[in-house]
Amino acid sequence: MKMSKKTFISQFFKPGNKVGALAPSSRFLAAKMLKNINFDTCKTIVEFGPGTGAFTGVIQQRMPVDCKLLIIELNETFYEELTAKFTNEQTEVINGSATELMEILKARNIQHADCIISSLPLAIFDESLRAQILGTAHASLSAGGYFVQFQYSLQSKKAIKQFFNELSLDFTPLNFPPAFVYHCKK
Ligand SMILES: C[S@@+](CC[C@H](N)C(=O)[O-])C[C@H]1O[C@@H](n2cnc3c(N)ncnc32)[C@H](O)[C@@H]1O
Repeated sequence: MKMSKKTFISQFFKPGNKVGALAPSSRFLAAKMLKNINFDTCKTIVEFGPGTGAFTGVIQQRMPVDCKLLIIELNETFYEELTAKFTNEQTEVINGSATELMEILKARNIQHADCIISSLPLAIFDESLRAQILGTAHASLSAGGYFVQFQYSLQSKKAIKQFFNELSLDFTPLNFPPAFVYHCKK
C-alpha cells in the first residue's frame, strides 16, 4: 500500500480526527477540482486541508513562477509529510486551521487570495465552524476570486450558497467515495 494511503487510514482512526475520508482523492477528482482555475492570473493560491497532497503536486505543476501557494493543514502528521514533500520557494506549508486564513495572509503582507481550493470535510463540522470557514474564505478572496470545494454529499450546498451565490455543481463517480465539486465565484 502507498505511504499516503497508509497515513490516511491511520489518521482517520485517531480519536477526534477531522480527516473526513478514508483515502486520498483520485486524480480524476483532482482534475475536476482544478479544471476552472486560470492559473496564469493567480498570485496567491490557498489550499485548505491538503491531507497527503492529492491536489498539491498538480497545483505546483500548473502555477506560474510568480505565484505563491499557501497550504493549511490542521493534522500534524499530514503537516510533517507535506512539509517534506512540497515545501519550496513558492510553497509554504502551514500547520493550522483554515479559520486562521485572514491572520495568515496579513502576517505575509498578502491582501487577498485569488483562489482557494478546499477539501475540508464541511459535513462533519458543526454549523458555526462551517459558517466561520466559509465566511473566512469569502472575506479572504479578491473580487471575482474563485473558491472550489469537494464533498461526498449535497448536505453543505445550502451553507455554501449562503456565502457564494454564484455556484455551479460538478460530480465524479471516479473517486472513493464519489464526490460532488462546488465551483464558486466571489
Ligand atoms: C477529506 S481530507 C482531504 C485530503 C486531501 N486534500 C485529499 O483530497 O485527498 C480533509 C483534510 O482537511 C484537514 N482539515 C480538517 N479540518 C481542518 C481545518 N480546520 N483546517 C485545515 N485543515 C483541516 C484534515 O486534516 C484532512 O487532511
